[in-house]
Amino acid sequence: MDKIIIEGGIPLNGEVTVGGSKNAALPILSACLLTGGWHTLDNIPKLRDIWTIKEILSNLGVVFDEDGQSLKVNSDNLASHSAPYKLVKTMRASILVLGPLLSRLGKAKISLPGGCAIGARPIDLHLKGLSAMGVDINLEHGYVVASADKLRGANIFFDICTVTGTENLMMAAVKAEGKTTLHNAAEEPEVVDLANMLKAMGARIKGAGTDTITIIGVKELHPIRYGIIPDRIEAGTFLIAAGITKGKVRIKGCNGDHMEAIIEKLLDIGMELEKQGEDLVAIGHDKIKGVDIKTMPFPGFPTDMQAQFMALMCIANGWSMIRETVFENRFMHISELRRMGADIEINGGQALVRGKRNLSGAQVMATDLRASASLILAGLAAKGRTEISRVYHLDRGYQGLDLKLSLLGSKIWREKY
Ligand code: UD1
Repeated sequence: MDKIIIEGGIPLNGEVTVGGSKNAALPILSACLLTGGWHTLDNIPKLRDIWTIKEILSNLGVVFDEDGQSLKVNSDNLASHSAPYKLVKTMRASILVLGPLLSRLGKAKISLPGGCAIGARPIDLHLKGLSAMGVDINLEHGYVVASADKLRGANIFFDICTVTGTENLMMAAVKAEGKTTLHNAAEEPEVVDLANMLKAMGARIKGAGTDTITIIGVKELHPIRYGIIPDRIEAGTFLIAAGITKGKVRIKGCNGDHMEAIIEKLLDIGMELEKQGEDLVAIGHDKIKGVDIKTMPFPGFPTDMQAQFMALMCIANGWSMIRETVFENRFMHISELRRMGADIEINGGQALVRGKRNLSGAQVMATDLRASASLILAGLAAKGRTEISRVYHLDRGYQGLDLKLSLLGSKIWREKY
């Protein structure tokens, strides 16, 4: 296994380019199941989670062809309708193949994702929506076994905003008979990206990016070429890296419109940020203030940036109250940040961070994807040496974060242990 070592205290300086969005690429790759023919996808990031969804799709009979920077995907010859436990257990978003398989084959057998480090994360809302569309669902031996002679459009109300739930039902609905309306739908840019891809394939979808999405089923879809949006969470992580090291970084190829909640908080704390076309220039300095944040579905502050923002608040002037409202157990980075000298008090779903001038390097352990990014950020700011183990969590969702940071001037490298 790899660990990451950082000698902290060096201001970052330079330019970095953001990769394609992991959370957009996962449903878009799954959507290639909806119709045969060769799809060409651009800007697919090279990450562990993408490898996992490709494995799941390969198991179903999908074939891939790397073509320079593009990925070609073909699902002409589907040989299976099942996604096995050994793959699904490593990534909950594997459930995204359920809707497309039902649409294409009328049947699917997907392992239940099981528990996960950041909370219970059930899939009841995916299943309830599919059932309203006429799908017969049984839970057998740890698998969701689903079948439908015909998918029918339905009026679906989500009790809670769910990103992959919205995406799964949108994909199930594109060829269903009649009209599907998704109420209290997720508004995330990744949902909009999937809708844009589906529309390019011939789907009739309105309202993506609002809380009500309507889909009129069509008879046929066709394969297309499509480019994935930039990863707003990776871009946000670099903004914080500039702030926490008091450096200056130009983040190239990001979409500022997808990051307004993050940008606004960074301006509130006193960072300098400038949008220059598709680039964001971020400058950190000594006078960063504490500020409160509350995670919310888009357009609110993203839960996927909470751990990284907390690292920054650890060295701010003043206090910060951080409320996590999306996942019930997403504070596992706190005990590790405390090992680096952070002063954080947890009370239920909120954490009070008392900012202090310095963190100190320590041996710490990554517990999930965004927690690992938070520890790297803290390590960049800390005095001395930080060693982060279990960085396989990081590799699920960031392509070469350590390499990109080293090109920006930080002393960061990997070792085997
Ligand atoms: C997606 C993102 C993840 C992000 C999260 C919230 C992907 C691949 N992952 O995860 O990075 O952190 O959105 O922005 O896009 N819930 C239920 N029942 C359900 C579904 C969800 O109760 O059937 C709850 C969850 O437990 C959670 C909340 O709804 O408390 C939001 O979860 P959801 O939006 O579904 O997260 P994911 O789609 O898994």
